[in-house]
Amino acid sequence: MDNVLVTIQNLSVVYTLKAGLSGLFKKRKGRTVIAVNDLSLSLEKGEILSLVGESGSGKTTTGRALLRLIKEEVKGTIRFEGKDVFSLSKQELKGFRKKAQMIFQDPYQALNPRNTVSRIVGESLEIHHPDFSWEKKQAMIAEALEWCGLKPVERYWNRYPHELSGGQRQRVAIAGALILKPQLVVADEPVSMLDASVRLDILSLLNGLKEEIGVTCLFITHDLALAWLISNRIAVMFAGTLVELGSAGLIAEGALHPYSKALIAAQPSATSSKERKRVIQVERKEDPAAVVFCPYYRRCMQATERCGKELPPLSEINPNHFVRCFNCRPNS
Ligand SMILES: Nc1ncnc2c1ncn2[C@@H]1O[C@H](COP(=O)(O)OP(=O)(O)OP(=O)(O)O)[C@@H](O)[C@H]1O
Ligand SMILES: [Mg+2]
Repeated sequence: MDNVLVTIQNLSVVYTLKAGLSGLFKKRKGRTVIAVNDLSLSLEKGEILSLVGESGSGKTTTGRALLRLIKEEVKGTIRFEGKDVFSLSKQELKGFRKKAQMIFQDPYQALNPRNTVSRIVGESLEIHHPDFSWEKKQAMIAEALEWCGLKPVERYWNRYPHELSGGQRQRVAIAGALILKPQLVVADEPVSMLDASVRLDILSLLNGLKEEIGVTCLFITHDLALAWLISNRIAVMFAGTLVELGSAGLIAEGALHPYSKALIAAQPSATSSKERKRVIQVERKEDPAAVVFCPYYRRCMQATERCGKELPPLSEINPNHFVRCFNCRPNS
C-alpha cells in the first residue's frame, strides 16, 4: 500500500437540478443526476492514470471530487496519503490544496487576463508561502517556467495571457499548477482545445514533468489514443460507472468491455470504416422493473437478458485487468 497516493472507495456524486431550473421545466422537478456511481480506484505514486469516456460520463466530476471541489452530495471515501479528504480540518485542507492541483481544459479562461505571466505562475506562492523572500519567489517562478519550456524566462515574465499562443498559455497554467511541486495533478482535458501540432508538445511536457518532479497525474480525456500515448493505466467510464481498468497497452490492444471496444473502433485511424460501422449503437427499451442494470445495456450488442436486470461487478478478468461485464471472457 506504500506505493498508493490516492484511494477512491465507493464514490458516488449526485447532482440535484437547482430549484430555479426545475421550476422552468416542471416535469423535471426534483430531478437528480447520478454523475458518478460507486467508483473505486486507486492512484499509484508517480503514475499517469487516464480517465476516459464520452461526454457526460462523469470524468470531470470524479476529478473535482478528488480535489474536494464539489459542493454536491458526495458518498464514499477518498484517501490522500491515507487521510480522508472529506474530513480534513481547515488547516489540513490548506496543506492538501498545496499538494493537489488542477489543470483545466481551457487555457484561455484559466488565466487572469489582467495578470502577467510571472504573477500568474507565482499566485500559489503568495497563498502558501507569503513569507518567502521576493528573490526566492522569483527563483521558483523562473524554475517553473523553465520546466514548462517557457525559456528564456525573461521573454515571458512580463507578458499578459493575450500576448501568448494557446499552447504557451497552457504551459503557463501548468507552471502555475506545478510551482509548489504537488504530489497530485488532475489534468482535465488539458490539450483538447489546442491545435494538433502543440498537443504532443504539451503531452510530452506532462510526461517529462512526471519524471522530473515525480508528480502523480489523473489525466482526463475522451480521446483513447491520447490516453494510450501518455498513461500507465487507463480507466474507462460509462454513465458514471467504471467499466474497465488496466494498463494502457492492455486497454489499447486487448480491451474487453464492449464500450471500450466501441471507443477504440471510433478512433479515426484505429480501424477501417467497416469495423467502425459494426459498432453502431443499438437502443433497447428500458425494463421499468429493473432498478439496477449494466449502464451500457441499452447500447450493447452483446447484451443478454441478465445485463438488463443486474449490474455486473468489476471483476479481475486477467491479472490487473478489471472488466464490468457478464459476457467478457479472459484473453487467451
Ligand atoms: N453542476 C452540475 N449540475 C447538474 N448536473 C451536472 C453538473 N455538472 C455535471 N452534471 C452532470 O453530471 C454528469 C457528469 O458530468 P461531467 O461533467 O462529470 O462529465 P464529463 O465526463 O466530464 O463530460 P465532458 O467530457 O463533456 O466534460 C452529466 O450528466 C452532467 O450533465
Ligand atoms: Mg469534463
